[in-house]
Amino acid sequence: MKVYHGNVVYSKSADELQEFSNCYIAVENGVVEGIYEELPDKFKGATVTDFGDDVIIPAFSDLHVHAPQYPNRGLQMDELLSDWLFLHTFPLEAKYKDIDFARTVYDVFVDDIIEHGTMHLSIFGTIHNEATGYLVEKLEAKGIRAYVGRVNMDENSPDYLCETTEQSLKDTEEFLAKYANNKYAKPIITPRFAPTCSEKLLTGLGKLAAKYHAGVQTHVVESKWEAAEAKRKFADCSCDMEIYEKAGLLGHGQFVAAHFMYPSSDDVRIIKKYGGLAVQCPDATISIIAGIMPTARLQNEGVKVALGTDLSAGHSLGVYSQAGRAVQLSKIKGLYEPENSGAISFARAFYMATKQGGEVFGNVGSLEKGYSFDALVIGGVEKEFEKLSPAQMVERFCYLGETKHIKARFLAGTKIG
Ligand code: GUN
Ligand code: FE
Repeated sequence: MKVYHGNVVYSKSADELQEFSNCYIAVENGVVEGIYEELPDKFKGATVTDFGDDVIIPAFSDLHVHAPQYPNRGLQMDELLSDWLFLHTFPLEAKYKDIDFARTVYDVFVDDIIEHGTMHLSIFGTIHNEATGYLVEKLEAKGIRAYVGRVNMDENSPDYLCETTEQSLKDTEEFLAKYANNKYAKPIITPRFAPTCSEKLLTGLGKLAAKYHAGVQTHVVESKWEAAEAKRKFADCSCDMEIYEKAGLLGHGQFVAAHFMYPSSDDVRIIKKYGGLAVQCPDATISIIAGIMPTARLQNEGVKVALGTDLSAGHSLGVYSQAGRAVQLSKIKGLYEPENSGAISFARAFYMATKQGGEVFGNVGSLEKGYSFDALVIGGVEKEFEKLSPAQMVERFCYLGETKHIKARFLAGTKIG
């Protein structure tokens, strides 16, 4: 049993923050036991760690990030998606054929996600089993809950980063089988997106999804260019989601749809039918994809939306900065396209960054009783002349916080980082 004293903030619901000032949070076997104004007698013998005026919050959930693109963060942000992929991203991803290069980058990547307070992730690797396997094993050893995919691409890709359909399916099955029984870092089927995948590949992946009860992640109605390419290639499908539904990819595990920028009513119907999660990546869509997700409209229509960094189309590893950005973008969307609805609240964005994204990994992303104590201690965001409430400190952190403001990190109750 461990007890921490301080302030606590988590999402009570999608639109409401729960805050406790000057309280005690008790953690038993890595799981939140309860939050108390006064320390109950049963804990009187326990040592209490005092975080003073700092705020304990759930660790963040990044539902869309490309680990291999880490070396390109903050570079080449003046291109649009197709040029950016072919000129900068595919050449970098090809380097992961070299396991030594992969190890070097992935070691730093994993340290840096922890530094940024992210403890639950859905990650794209590359087409390389060995490199992506190294990342899976590293996350599993650390107990970080993640979905990790070795990427599939067998068409419209440069020779140096293109697989045959047969090899792609064979390597994917090997990857799924090898890590199927992992406890924390689990394999997920990861067709890059419709423009780089043949129908035969997607159908083959659908069979593997059924056989291994595997989830699927991909980029869905990502940009106007992507949507047009997908329509051209899959002319018998009325929308992007139908491509994946027809291939048998949906319904075997969690579906994670990055971006979901221009969904038709059929896209919305299909993602809801399978309980899929759409992922907003605010910085990435400003920089590379050029658009704004209709977040509030989708949520009003019953679509679950979480947040992602989409490194390196996005430039920052801090999911917290994406929460602030999601609020900003929702207001711009509402201004130019009122039919796509207006502002989301900060409470809503924080929920997307923590509990909504965490939901797909189990009891993580909150500090309610029974949730894993995957938590951050936030401090140093207020000056001597002001007094912010715990919820205000969290809001300010999501706008102008830096990693130096994360004073401590806990994963399943153990201090890390
Ligand atoms: N669509 C296909 N591949 C990618 C990628 O690597 N990043 C982003 N943002 N979109 C993609
Ligand atoms: Fe992406």
